[in-house]
Amino acid sequence: MGTLIMKKNITYLIILSTPVCSEEWKASVLKNIEALVGSCVVVPCSFSHPKESLPTSRMRGLWHHSRDMKHLIYYEDSTMVMENFRGRTRLLGELGKGNCSLEIKEIKDHDNGPFCFRIELARTGTDTGTKDKFSFKEDCVTLQMLTNPKDPELTYKDPVEGHPFSITCFATHTCPTFRPKLKWNTGTEVQITERHRELHPGFWEMSSVLSFVPTVNDDHKEVTCTAQFNGEKMSTAKMTLYVKRMENYNHIIIPVAVAIGLVAIFGGLCFLMMKKYSMFNRLSRLSRR
Ligand SMILES: *[C@@H]1O[C@H](CO)[C@@H](O)[C@H](O)[C@H]1NC(C)=O
Repeated sequence: MGTLIMKKNITYLIILSTPVCSEEWKASVLKNIEALVGSCVVVPCSFSHPKESLPTSRMRGLWHHSRDMKHLIYYEDSTMVMENFRGRTRLLGELGKGNCSLEIKEIKDHDNGPFCFRIELARTGTDTGTKDKFSFKEDCVTLQMLTNPKDPELTYKDPVEGHPFSITCFATHTCPTFRPKLKWNTGTEVQITERHRELHPGFWEMSSVLSFVPTVNDDHKEVTCTAQFNGEKMSTAKMTLYVKRMENYNHIIIPVAVAIGLVAIFGGLCFLMMKKYSMFNRLSRLSRR
């Protein structure tokens, strides 16, 4: 059973039954991935053919909805792609390198999938003995919809006046082709360093480190980090700076020392007075006799 698609002189055979040659072909598609509605998602996917390296020109990668192999969400020939996916999907990976990563843009809240990767090997008219007819129907991805992005996270140590201070803002996402922009609210002289890395397959982290030397004027200031995601959705994290003073404590120590000193002197005087007074009493008692 099969559907034949005629295109130029090459015939692509799409197998509807699935006698998968699992010994030869291996594919791995991430099973679950979060996707932010309105943004994009990149689904990691790879496959390998251990026997020989096949000519890229004969390979055709496609992605379809799991309910029907004909419900294509990505295909080279976009006219065969379902209308609501047309222009929104792109194969990012190079098939020749065994990379079948898929990008879906402008995510809609019903784009859940599951979506499956499949590879076809083109056969020339004369080459009828090809056995490489394969499907990776079992390798499908389900998108978990996020209506709103998660808030970024802030990490920092307590700021101390006059000492270098840095605060890091982390935002996670699954759209590495259009990474989020991280913005700080502070307009003062600062240094910002950004980093983008894959935490685990398909799951990325964008971070921004804000560094400056806090002054007394920064005390009680609010610092915010805003993550602007592809598709314009935003999320924010906030913190308030409580700047620890590092000036010398003379303004406290001196008055306290003076007070203690005064108390000591005054106490000493009192003691002497009392002593004198009691002596005077004794003397007067003696003189009365
Ligand atoms: C596959 O391609 C994507 C997009 O170009 C890339 O980010 C990823 O690192 C590639 N994967 C591998 C295993 O090379």
